Amino acid sequence: MSSPARVAQLYATPVGKKAVMAVSGLVLFGFVLVHMLGNLQIFLPAKDGVHAIDAYGQALHANQPVLLTARAILLLAVGLHIWSAVKLALLRNSARPVAYAQSVAIASTYASRTMYWSGPILAAFIVYHLLHFTTGHAHPEFQFLQVHDNVVRGFSDWYASCFYILAMAMLCLHLYHGVWSVFQSLGVAHPRYRAGLKLAAKGFAAVVAAGNISIPLAVMAGVVE
Ligand code: HEM
Repeated sequence: MSSPARVAQLYATPVGKKAVMAVSGLVLFGFVLVHMLGNLQIFLPAKDGVHAIDAYGQALHANQPVLLTARAILLLAVGLHIWSAVKLALLRNSARPVAYAQSVAIASTYASRTMYWSGPILAAFIVYHLLHFTTGHAHPEFQFLQVHDNVVRGFSDWYASCFYILAMAMLCLHLYHGVWSVFQSLGVAHPRYRAGLKLAAKGFAAVVAAGNISIPLAVMAGVVE
């Protein structure tokens, strides 16, 4: 059998779909961490009259081949992640077309039960976020590559800031369960390491969410202006 046919055959199994979800999830974990660290540059002082985050944005846009490649990988990862989630949900529903009369959570956590609604909320957030800070269609005073001013003006709108904070709370839940699931998919979630790995998943999710939430909070409090 040819390699593409073998890949298609493997993907057709639930294990294959879970693997695609785990690998695409890993790419997205890396992105949210690096993006959060990049965003925190809003707290750095300006140098020679140029805000640190503006210099960072200009450097990213200066190298178009790298930017386009990163965007293509990101788009592919998001597409595969959503596609596997939909396929796994359909599989789950076809295995039990009639819902239990009473559902009792035995081994699932709150975060795991929220995956199928925190995911779509995050997808909606990303669409809004791109229109807000990347294309400017949802931003009243957007200026290309004026990242600092775009963020400060964007978060001066109370509603936008609250929506971001809510979305970051969803991201925290989604990341926590996602990271923990990857440990399980990779087969490293041995009972002996369980507590430590769960703590690592919680720590990762909390750091990414808290780092991002600090930005709208700082703008609303007038710390960043
Ligand atoms: C408070 C939190 C966040 C802030 C302040 C923020 C800020 C920004 C800014 C300013 C840009 C435009 C950069 C530029 O054009 O140079 C951007 C782009 C982007 N952000 Fe965020 N972001 C936040 C959270 C997130 C989260 C949680 C995600 C994903 C779940 C995300 C995904 C993206 C994506 C995909 C882009 C487009 C990157 C590209 O140009 O290809 N952001 N963000």
